[in-house]
Amino acid sequence: MKPVRKAIFPVGGLGTRFLPATKALPKEMLPVVDKPLIEYAVEEARAAGIEEFIFVTGRGKTAIEDHFDNHYELEQTLRERGKRLELDQVNGAKLQPGQVAYIRQMEPLGLGHAVWCARNLINDEPFAVLLADDLIQSDKPTLLDMVEAYEEHGGNVVSLMEVPDRHTSRYGIVDPGLSNDRLVEIRGLVEKPDPADAPSNLAIVGRYILQPSVMDYLGSAESGAGNEIQLTDSMMKMVGEGPFNGLRLEGTRFDCGSKVGFLAAGVAYALARDDIGAELHAALSDILDN
Ligand code: UTP
Repeated sequence: MKPVRKAIFPVGGLGTRFLPATKALPKEMLPVVDKPLIEYAVEEARAAGIEEFIFVTGRGKTAIEDHFDNHYELEQTLRERGKRLELDQVNGAKLQPGQVAYIRQMEPLGLGHAVWCARNLINDEPFAVLLADDLIQSDKPTLLDMVEAYEEHGGNVVSLMEVPDRHTSRYGIVDPGLSNDRLVEIRGLVEKPDPADAPSNLAIVGRYILQPSVMDYLGSAESGAGNEIQLTDSMMKMVGEGPFNGLRLEGTRFDCGSKVGFLAAGVAYALARDDIGAELHAALSDILDN
């Protein structure tokens, strides 16, 4: 079984729910406390042993490239001013030469299309996909958990969470088979079903480990829900080809693609910090009391 060494970060979306903030700023650069969303996703991938980082970008996303690159003037200034901690933070975010690739999606035709754009960098290896706007606060990085499940069972692995029945039309929903503790066999998938048609309330969260054959299906995919090329539709065609499992995630997932989810993530992450948690708690209490 080939190890999972590569990860795709689709960052080509328009982020319309955050306009006007995302007119010139990529959604994935919005900060949760003091770190952009995309850096949390990259950290999670690193912790799971990923060695190659592939960003599928679009127009106006160069801030993401700059974020993971050298910034000589800033680093020099921080050094001169003795700001060691800040310098370490800036250096810690960097990716190494040769570890990172950027591909332009050119047109935001959907998540499935974004993943397909990276096909020539994936070749014949299994790979991970991480959506930065799904931020997961957990003790163990979710992708690491999934890589371990992959090493045991092979095939495809997606991250799952239960959602309220009325919310199934917001997610890819799985048709579950046998389950064993947190591992759930997947018999089918459907993108954004109405609650009445949903096979379960188990939703796919933005973490995937996929076999490279998904690229062939994506290559001939037609637009699905929302008139976008959906990753779920091509994953569905892989059911029955080999092991296909979901892993119920541990921790709390924040939908940072939505305003409320993004704000909640900021509060949760800040409250968990030693340096600002108590002060924020007091400030929030003041706001809520008034
Ligand atoms: P979303 O469905 O959240 O779409 O994409 P979006 O365009 O980013 O945001 P809204 O809905 O307009 O506010 C989920 C993930 O897939 C990526 C996005 O960048 C995001 O990480 N994506 C989506 C692409 O890379 N390309 C696309 O064509 C669509």
